[in-house]
Amino acid sequence: MDDVAPGRRLRSQAWFDNPQNPGMTALYVERYLNWGLTREELQSSRPVIGIAQTGSDLAPCNRHHLVLAERVREGIRDSGGLALEFPVHPIQETGRRPTAALDRNLAYLGLVEVLHGYPLDGVVLTTGCDKTTPACLMAAATVDIPAIVLSGGPMLNGWFNGERTGSGTIVWKAREMLAAGEIDEAGFVDLVASSAPSPGHCNTMGTASTMNAVAEVLGMSLPGSAAIPAPHRDRGRVAYLTGRRIVEMVREDLRPSDVLTREAFENAIVVTSAIGGSTNAPIHVNAIAQHVGVPLDVADWQDLGLTVPLIVDLQPAGRYLGEEFHRAGGVPAVVHELMAHGLIHEDARTVNGRTIGENCRASAATDRDVIRSFDQALLPDAGFLVLRGNLFDSAIMKTSVISPEFRERYLSDPEHPGVLEGRAVVFDGPEDYHARIDDPALDIDETCLLFIRGVGPLGYPGAAEVVNMQPPAALIRRGVHALPCIGDGRQSGTSGSPSILNASPEAAAGGGLALLQTGDVVRIDLVAGRADVLLPDEQLIERRRRLEESGGYPVPASQTPWQEIQRSLVTQLCDGMVLRPAVGYQRVAQTTG
Ligand code: FES
Ligand code: MG
Repeated sequence: MDDVAPGRRLRSQAWFDNPQNPGMTALYVERYLNWGLTREELQSSRPVIGIAQTGSDLAPCNRHHLVLAERVREGIRDSGGLALEFPVHPIQETGRRPTAALDRNLAYLGLVEVLHGYPLDGVVLTTGCDKTTPACLMAAATVDIPAIVLSGGPMLNGWFNGERTGSGTIVWKAREMLAAGEIDEAGFVDLVASSAPSPGHCNTMGTASTMNAVAEVLGMSLPGSAAIPAPHRDRGRVAYLTGRRIVEMVREDLRPSDVLTREAFENAIVVTSAIGGSTNAPIHVNAIAQHVGVPLDVADWQDLGLTVPLIVDLQPAGRYLGEEFHRAGGVPAVVHELMAHGLIHEDARTVNGRTIGENCRASAATDRDVIRSFDQALLPDAGFLVLRGNLFDSAIMKTSVISPEFRERYLSDPEHPGVLEGRAVVFDGPEDYHARIDDPALDIDETCLLFIRGVGPLGYPGAAEVVNMQPPAALIRRGVHALPCIGDGRQSGTSGSPSILNASPEAAAGGGLALLQTGDVVRIDLVAGRADVLLPDEQLIERRRRLEESGGYPVPASQTPWQEIQRSLVTQLCDGMVLRPAVGYQRVAQTTG
């Protein structure tokens, strides 16, 4: 077994084997011995590897990691390391109120402190449910000790009456069926629950699958690992290999800052676009980049990703689910296809010590129905569009989910292609939306645009996933399944709605959405990348003056200390919703005193 380079001391030796400070060494050693470890294990310069455990009963999407961690330990041990498992603040997307996004930065902060303050030479980041992946990667970026991602993998495919039911995506369909009176509430629960048949994270290309694909493309997990379904035997195998590899990474001193380069982030944008990835990806990926000190902004998503075709046929943009994606070749097959078209920086390093080009060169897709070639792409130009105007400085639109119905209804005017104009109906938060959407007085028809505000990082702490608003039930019964939706919040990555979202600055931060009133006419031009309320500047200035006089757009009181702390420090969605002071700290492992 290779040892670390001669003369190089492991970080953990400052705790367990420090001749300069025998008193403290004894104190550190005695407490770690008390569960049966030997001095030989602690003091033989074995790399000490943390297993950052995100699974728990509260976080069922990642609960499988409680089992996988055993295989990780075996891998660590077989490579000569010592494993110390510890909990990460739980994040469960659908169970956490008011929104799980509130916890991404909290889990990040907690993990930074653990990685910085304890005797760890490297860490295995267990990821899965949406925000667990960015939280872990952001912390690894800040601390910069050797780190490797192990995703838990998606659930098996869901099925109902012979049709695939994808997690999240089925919810949007089921709520429409409920509104149209096609199912009752018990039927609603049965249909939704059918989409979650096994351990694992969401089986659609929602935020979980997207972010784990991103982790792999960034080079932070072993190639081919992201898409393996949670119950497959290969999950255990890759857990073991991940444990083995992190020990070698410590010996090689291969750190996140060596892997998370601008090239790696550009690869992530291209792949996210090609897979029809989540609208949450730009937020999280921009956040990770900031924590490692790589310049990346929302404009990069359009510049690098918009012209990438959709080549993966997974829900919500397509038909299939996680099992087919894995069987077709998963992330390496997507990268392979993109490499053939010169869209990947092949020299970007990855955690296995090789480049992404080396890892994916022989990984052609094995099912061309699921992972397409460019000439059979599902859609051309399928990335994210960035819009600007007097309503916000930036918002994004996921073009891969613009349905033929939506395109026909809103974007096909031959004189103004890509332009939609209509009467705004404005809601202040999800409670207001639910209370009023079916109110006949609003007179909502197919020419209306639905707006929701007060749901950004400040307005609804963490930013709520509510922008994909369902039309009034009466409209659904008439066959109108989607109205254009615009908002300063987020939406689930499992949603197939082509909303314009993540608007920054949000209403609560003084954004133009705060000035909008129901009845205003709004014009959205997808070709020019504009979104504007058609009012003269003087009128907007006057509205702003009145709003400021009345104390500004209302922000509800914080319910917990963390909500207040986060509100006082957080940036807008376009900037990754990061904690402003935190991005000033990089490579903090070197500062442990
Ligand atoms: Fe946890 Fe989708 S809700 S992965
Ligand atoms: Mg979500």
